[in-house]
Amino acid sequence: MALGSRVRMIAAMAIYQLLFSAVFRRVPAEAAHQLALGLIRCAAAVPGASWLLRRALAPADPVLRVHVFGRDLASPLGLAAGFDKDAVGPDALGALGFAFIEVGTVTAEPQVGNPRPRLFRLPADRALVNRMGFNNHGAAAMAARLRSRQHRDPRLLVGANIGKTRVVPDAAAAADYATSAALLAPVAGYLVLNVSSPNTPGLRNLQAVDQLRALIAAVRGAVRDAEPHAAQPSASSRVPLLIKIAPDLADEDIDAIADLALELGLDGIIATNTTVSRDNLASSPAEVAATGAGGLSGAPLKPRALHVLRRLRARTGDRLVLVASGGIETPDDAWERIEAGATLLQAYTGFIYGGPLWPRRICRGLSARARAAGLASVQQAVGVTARAATPR
Ligand SMILES: Cc1cc2nc3c(=O)[nH]c(=O)nc-3n(C[C@H](O)[C@H](O)[C@H](O)COP(=O)(O)O)c2cc1C
Repeated sequence: MALGSRVRMIAAMAIYQLLFSAVFRRVPAEAAHQLALGLIRCAAAVPGASWLLRRALAPADPVLRVHVFGRDLASPLGLAAGFDKDAVGPDALGALGFAFIEVGTVTAEPQVGNPRPRLFRLPADRALVNRMGFNNHGAAAMAARLRSRQHRDPRLLVGANIGKTRVVPDAAAAADYATSAALLAPVAGYLVLNVSSPNTPGLRNLQAVDQLRALIAAVRGAVRDAEPHAAQPSASSRVPLLIKIAPDLADEDIDAIADLALELGLDGIIATNTTVSRDNLASSPAEVAATGAGGLSGAPLKPRALHVLRRLRARTGDRLVLVASGGIETPDDAWERIEAGATLLQAYTGFIYGGPLWPRRICRGLSARARAAGLASVQQAVGVTARAATPR
């Protein structure tokens, strides 16, 4: 792209960033979110705009490339689940510079989620509290959208995150997940079993090893049946299967889940979802109380999410793809997670507070760090601090 158009594009995004700070933060958080997603989709729908956005914002530095799940991604940075719950705009979001987008959480049945307001900002903590409760159009609608993606970017990895339909009793949870998995396996780049949202009663109990084992077996069976050559599924045609865990697990539960993931040959673990803890917040107790129940995300989650990641890496080494999520807001945070063992990174709240140029900033920072360390690829840094800490 010519330098002039590149500068104009960056200037336009900077104006958008100003708008984001000045206007979006003054309207209710969920309305701001919907407006932002709508604007991003509109911008990307203008003919040629996605291409221009990608040229200006998507990482092009080869040092950022990672090889994961049998494919090459432009960078390790992705957008976490919950931002595009229904897969209405993964390619538009990808054009901002994310190498992968996790859509969902989606459930087998469409549902409205919890009553509003259900999303709150705690700006003093650069945090959010949400109790959305899996508002979504259902797995069949998502599968149809993913099948007919407009302005499809073939390099973008789109994973689908699955949860339990609220009205389905806990005893039937596995079948409910399996229904969604069967619908989405043929059209998703990977599947995530979300067993860690605090906003669906009983969901986090699925993290108990026996429950998880049954859940994974049911989902595996459904995915096998849904795949085109069910009789001889090859490793390459198989959709990667991951689980997403909570930051509030005890250390021994983290270890048990890691062991189970290895035993069952899962492809990866996402650590972590939001926390129910409200410890160590800078916001006043009254502000915190006003947000009510729900999952806290953003900067305060950083230490706990990093701890869980380190624990998983210590237990599993390089045998699983670890995806870091929780409080990543600066290039230093991103680099620290990679060095702690994350092959992939995801963010939600950092992007909300950082605005549309945020992915570009993180990627540029990661490039600089990899080059300063004399590495040919960021992937060479995965787990280096974990390796250094392992006694020989
Ligand atoms: C408003 C909101 C909605 C979310 N919805 C989902 C969801 O549907 N499924 C899920 O697995 N995680 C969901 N999350 C959690 C994020 O994917 C992410 O794991 C978590 O926020 C920690 O990352 P962060 O600190 O970068 O936000 C949601 C987070 C927020 C803030």
